[in-house]
Amino acid sequence: MTGINSSELDDAIEQGGSEIIRDGLKQGDVAVVTGAARGFGRAIALRLAREGAKLAVWDVVDDEGEETAAACRAIGIEAEFFHCDMGDADNISSAAAAVLDKFRTVYAVINNAGIHPRSPAAEVPLEMWNRTLAVNLTGSFLTAQAFAPTMFKNGRGNIISLSSGRAIEGAKNGIHYACSKAGIIAMTKTLAQEWASNGIRVNAIIPGVSETRQPLEAGGVTLENLRERGKGVPLGRVGHPDDLAGMVAVLLGPDTAFVTGQAVAINGGVIMLP
Ligand SMILES: NC(=O)c1ccc[n+]([C@@H]2O[C@H](COP(=O)([O-])OP(=O)(O)OC[C@H]3O[C@@H](n4cnc5c(N)ncnc54)[C@H](O)[C@@H]3O)[C@@H](O)[C@H]2O)c1
Repeated sequence: MTGINSSELDDAIEQGGSEIIRDGLKQGDVAVVTGAARGFGRAIALRLAREGAKLAVWDVVDDEGEETAAACRAIGIEAEFFHCDMGDADNISSAAAAVLDKFRTVYAVINNAGIHPRSPAAEVPLEMWNRTLAVNLTGSFLTAQAFAPTMFKNGRGNIISLSSGRAIEGAKNGIHYACSKAGIIAMTKTLAQEWASNGIRVNAIIPGVSETRQPLEAGGVTLENLRERGKGVPLGRVGHPDDLAGMVAVLLGPDTAFVTGQAVAINGGVIMLP
């Protein structure tokens, strides 16, 4: 019945396709976004609120974090701010418990919070190395781990973590940052393998330079300089937080139900991955 070139074969494939269940973010699903007071995190939270998700907004900056949660509520969904320092394991487990206490469940974790202090490799203080690895990498892992039991119980979940082009190319004056972001890719592939059978997809995003405070404040450049630099990008501009938020929505959605363990670059064509 499934012989080559037979119309039965085409029918069997079509029939099989119609039976595949493609899960993705649904209205009312709960999403945790770390570092959502500003930048990418804020844009991601607002985008997911517009998709109908309930939002747990995490950050260390309380007033702007509260403001992001209020902006999400203004869209018409439930949202709450939770103070959480991603470099502190106790903070992460308390914030995760508070999220589950409020919302009872979680579907998506967006590990977005990140820091990028600068120092030449030969002089990086151990404290800077440890703090950068703690916030960018260990905190992301602990957050995924904190919500894993709930996702296992639900048989569904979706984890997206922010890496960086620096993970691929290296980062002059940021060896600690580059290593933390390379670790995000290794973490993503490992969790994707271990948790696929639990219905959990795990992916990473590799952004290029974008218009947020991180490259402006930490890199000491003006917005005008950054935009000027964008003229050298194949697509003619640097990234915008809404570019990232759009990709997060795609990766959480049912159209990418067969995508896991991937690191997707969003950079206007600066780095073209195989
Ligand atoms: N903007 C870029 O050009 C770019 C490029 C590549 C990767 N990234 C990555 O994207 C992510 C978001 O960056 P962004 O550009 O929006 O940066 P941003 O500095 O504008 O925002 C980062 C957010 O994380 C929060 N944060 C910082 N330390 C924290 C901590 N210890 N605990 C909890 N929250 C904390 C900040 O308060 C802020 O709200 C980061 O992981 C960053 O490394 C950014």
